Amino acid sequence: MDFISRPVGALHGTAAVPGDKSISHRALMLGAVATGATRIQGFLDGADTNATLNALRAMGVTVDRAGAHDLTVHGRGLHGLSAPAAPLDLGNSGTSARLLAGLLAGQAFASELVGDASLMQRPMRRVVDPLRQMGADIECSPGGTLPLRIHGGRRLHGIDYVLPVASAQLKSALLLAGLYAEGSTILTEPGRSRDHTERMLADFGCPVHREGGRIRLQAVPLRGHPVAVPGDISSAAFLILAACLVPGADIRLENVGINPTRSAVLTILGDMGADISVRERASGQSEPAADIHVRHAPLHGIAIPEELVPVAIDEFPAILVAAAAAQGRTVLSGAAELRVKESDRIAAMASGLSALGIDVETRADGMRVTGGRLQGGTVDSYSDHRIAMAFAVAGAAADAPVRVRDCINVNTSFPGFVECTRRIGLNIEAVEHG
Ligand code: S3P
Repeated sequence: MDFISRPVGALHGTAAVPGDKSISHRALMLGAVATGATRIQGFLDGADTNATLNALRAMGVTVDRAGAHDLTVHGRGLHGLSAPAAPLDLGNSGTSARLLAGLLAGQAFASELVGDASLMQRPMRRVVDPLRQMGADIECSPGGTLPLRIHGGRRLHGIDYVLPVASAQLKSALLLAGLYAEGSTILTEPGRSRDHTERMLADFGCPVHREGGRIRLQAVPLRGHPVAVPGDISSAAFLILAACLVPGADIRLENVGINPTRSAVLTILGDMGADISVRERASGQSEPAADIHVRHAPLHGIAIPEELVPVAIDEFPAILVAAAAAQGRTVLSGAAELRVKESDRIAAMASGLSALGIDVETRADGMRVTGGRLQGGTVDSYSDHRIAMAFAVAGAAADAPVRVRDCINVNTSFPGFVECTRRIGLNIEAVEHG
């Protein structure tokens, strides 16, 4: 499936984006190994989160679905999962692969994790090495990728470990393994990354203590807990981008998660001149949520502060399109992790922006973008959902239509993207891949 995105005159209206992907994955996994039931409302019914759901079902977990976004996980307790009959296929989902590696490292049974062509190339040694230090018997391919073979039946012990990258997937994998470990699991992060796992573990009765950059978990059994999933700020970012780009735009997004370890996209776009106002909702949940109002305003280029990179890590496709439409130069550095996402996002953004007439220069850990007029044209998404959505939105403010190739993976994180963007006035059409 390709997208054809046509320029539009103005954007107005209110929209709600689907539930947060990171929180939906975690609610399924913690719910599965808790005792009692966990009702998840606002669940993301996307291909990635359904890959986690299917993997848990393959290990004996019962999940009732009252609707696409409302489900109840019947927890089996820490030691209640059963051996899957076949390798667990996690599709495109890095979060499923890495977090499940941690959860499965401490099980009594063997398991194997595989994925699609993109996931099979993503780095897994970052999880395998520390899990081995915890006592797990786990192997990856010689290239450090999936398939992961977890032999199981090992007793894990806590470690005091300095993460080599600011990665919430790695941190979460080790916290989940820590639930099965004797002694404390102590982790030091080189930079702040999203803290959904820590917040949710506390809700499930197992607090994670933080002191500066160090966190410590001492395992206790988990109790099921209701989870109300807010809208995904990483999906909202594409609609926010649209309103930043299109003159006269004035839109509202309802119930978007604004956890401070996720919301740096608002700071970065704000520093570029975007007119964004945030009204927090009184949710009573451990994850804060807000209504977000965005009005068009002219953008200017900035040097993006490196400490904001891990807390805006998924938003760079959108931010780099904003940079392309801004006056002057934007410099992104300290972002080498973008090279190992669902695609090499530095290369993918550079190739797409160049195809639309924008001057870019890449480096190993980032890129420089000089704002200009976006022309129409054809860009490749490299099968990456966020690259696809970023360029689909770019088409709204380009001189002529933009065709984005190979957009099917948008369903991993933002099912209903086309309909949702139409609601505020974007003109994106899904057509057969050609
Ligand atoms: C995620 C963490 C991030 C992010 C991914 C989801 C998570 O990955 O890019 O989309 O849910 O923990 P890293 O931890 O590898 O940076």
